[in-house]
Formats: sequence, C-alpha cells, structure tokens
Amino acid sequence: MSRHLAEHLHVPLDITSGNGCFLVEKSGKKLLDFIGGWCVATVGWRNKEMANAMTKQADIGVYVPPLLRYPPQEALAARLSELAPGNLSRVYRCTSGSEAVEFAVKCARAATGKPTIVSIDGVYHGHTYGAAAVGDACGKKMAPCPPGFVKLPMPKTTEEGREVAAQFEELVRTRKDVAAFLSEPVWTNVGCFIPPEGFYAQIQRICRRYGVLLAMDEVASGFGRCGTLFASELWGLKPDILCLGKAFTGGFASMGATLVTESVFKASRGIPDYSTFGWLPQDLAATAMNVEIIVRDRLSENASAVGAYLLNELEPLKKLRKIKEVRGIGLLFGIEFHLPIAALIALACYRNGLLVTVSDARTLFFSPPLVLTKKLAKQGADILKAACGSRN
Ligand SMILES: Cc1ncc(COP(=O)(O)O)c(C=O)c1O
Repeated sequence: MSRHLAEHLHVPLDITSGNGCFLVEKSGKKLLDFIGGWCVATVGWRNKEMANAMTKQADIGVYVPPLLRYPPQEALAARLSELAPGNLSRVYRCTSGSEAVEFAVKCARAATGKPTIVSIDGVYHGHTYGAAAVGDACGKKMAPCPPGFVKLPMPKTTEEGREVAAQFEELVRTRKDVAAFLSEPVWTNVGCFIPPEGFYAQIQRICRRYGVLLAMDEVASGFGRCGTLFASELWGLKPDILCLGKAFTGGFASMGATLVTESVFKASRGIPDYSTFGWLPQDLAATAMNVEIIVRDRLSENASAVGAYLLNELEPLKKLRKIKEVRGIGLLFGIEFHLPIAALIALACYRNGLLVTVSDARTLFFSPPLVLTKKLAKQGADILKAACGSRN
C-alpha cells in the first residue's frame, strides 16, 4: 500500500513490466492481461514499433506550446477527421478522456447557446466537474455540482429503448433549452451494456428534428474496442461531437481529443482551449503510431473476430444458476452474477494467471488488448469458466 499516492481504490499488485497480452508482477508471475488497462490496451505491451517511434521523438526533444504551429499535430488532426464517422473537421487537443468530455460540454453549450446536457444515468464519463456531472461521479462530497445536467434511464430492452427515446423527445420539445444528448454508443464501464436495437437511431432522429447536438463519448469504446473503429458506426451515428481518449493512445501517452463539426467549431469560438500539455510532441509520436498500427493491422476486425470467439467460449457460463447475464461486443465484456461475488471470481482468476476486474460487486469486467489471439482468448476463457465453477 502506498503511503504517498492519493488513492482510495487499489488492487495490491505490483506490476513491473509487460509483453504483448501479458503483464508481469514483481514476483515474476506472468498474468494474462484481460483488464487491458480498462479499454486502453491496443497494440500490446512492449511493442517494438511504439518504442521506436517514442525513442525517435525523444531524440528530437522538443516542446511546442499550443500558440505555435507543430505540423505533426495538424497531420494527426487531419487523420482523425478522415477516420471518424460523419463530418468532424475540427479537433480540440487535450490530455485525457475527462478533458475531452469537458470540451464536448463547452462546445455544445457555446454552439447552441443552451445549457442542458442530457445523458444516460449510472454511467461514468470522467472525474472533472463537468464530466463527473455528465456521468454519475459528481456525488455529495463534491457538491455543489454544476447545474444543467439531466439524466434518462438506461434502456435494456427494445421496449425500454422506445420509452426512453419518447422521454427524450418530450424533454427537448417542452424544455427548449437542451444543447446536446451526450452518451456512449455502448455503455462500457457499467459492465458492457449494449443499447437495444433501434434506440440510437431514434435518438439521432430526435436530435436532428429539434436541432439538438448528438455528442458521443468514445473515450472507452473508440479505436476498435467494440469491433468497429468507432462504436458510433454500429448504429449508423454521425455525431456532431466525438470524445476520444484511452485506446487513442494505447496506454503510451496522455492524450485526448474532441472532434467537432465545422459549424460547432465556428460557433464555439471564444471557449478556453489552451492546454499546455495537450498533444505534447512526445505523446503525439506515440499516439500517431498507435493509431496507424490499429488501422494498418485492422485491429478492430481482430477485436470483432476474437471477441466473437471468446463470447462463444463463454457460452457454457449462461447455464450456471449463479450467472445472470454474459455480455460482450468486440473485446468488451461484462459477466453479471445474481450475488455480489464478482471480486471473489476475479481473485480466483488471478490465482490461475488471469487478470480481470469488476464494474460493481455483481459484475465482472474485462477488455483485453486488441491484439488478443484466439489461443489466448481460449486460455482466458478456460480460467474464467473454472473460476465460475463451470465443468465445460
Ligand atoms: C466513457 C469514459 N469517458 C471518459 C472517461 C474519463 O477518461 P480519463 O480517465 O482519461 O479522464 C472514462 C474513463 O474511464 C470513460 O470510460
């Protein structure tokens, strides 16, 4: 236990290094890393190409403040704009997913002149005041929390999807002060909840009809996690605002980004956008290389294929009485139990060499690196099944 790091939540494991889909403990024990940095891991640990890109940049050894131009930043912004769904031509630079969500809130309010941000209840969007208020993290101890945030319940069935969309329409029709609907295209941190069919098509239609901005937080789902480069693509979404972090960097840098349409950008003129360390050249070299490897090696397709294989391997778990639901999309998974035993199952997995974590007391969560192979998927699935007491 650290005496100096300000941490309230921690697992007492000392990690010293990694390789591919494995992390290594101080004791030398190798662990198959299904946590994957919590939706961060992409190209695998100790990746040679990443090391080369970072070393090359370290040799250049420069810092360029945001008031000067730095061509590699322009190049990455152009690349993001080309890869992202819709017409997101402008990119705000920042250092984390929370900051990316802050930009989404600032831009939505500035562009519409309206204060209210509608999101889905019970989801995490970051730790800073605005992002914590979009999500469920602005608790009593942080009060007063910023005003202007309204939550809708998370729909779990097609019928609930219709009801929640109807609530949203009623809200925007009657209040007239709604700037944006801001949510994740797949609800990741709560334990991988996949929105019901048709839900997002309805939300997008309502946004367009009433001139409300559609903002997608793809900090956790972006860059291949859900089997497409961006999870917005799963539902045919063309967001006006898109937030990136986590897998954008593969865990090799501290960078986020908020992509917006040209009209949102123009109307947002005047919001504070100077981030001293936003897209630091050293971070940028790593992130740009990570993005190129994901695209070149089609890691979203690997996530789709290996994720489907792993979900199928976990199928026998559905027969166990202790299991409520097994959810997966791409390489994002949640296993929900009827009782609060998720931490015990995670511990049993650890003892057999597999790292998984929990979303809550009843839900196991895992998001392996995007380079996971079928062989390693099977190895992990076997450990998980044994920990849950499945015989096959
Ligand atoms: C969906 C989502 N948005 C935003 C964030 C905040 O990102 P960061 O921890 O980089 O500030 C997270 C982090 O877990 C997240 O999962």
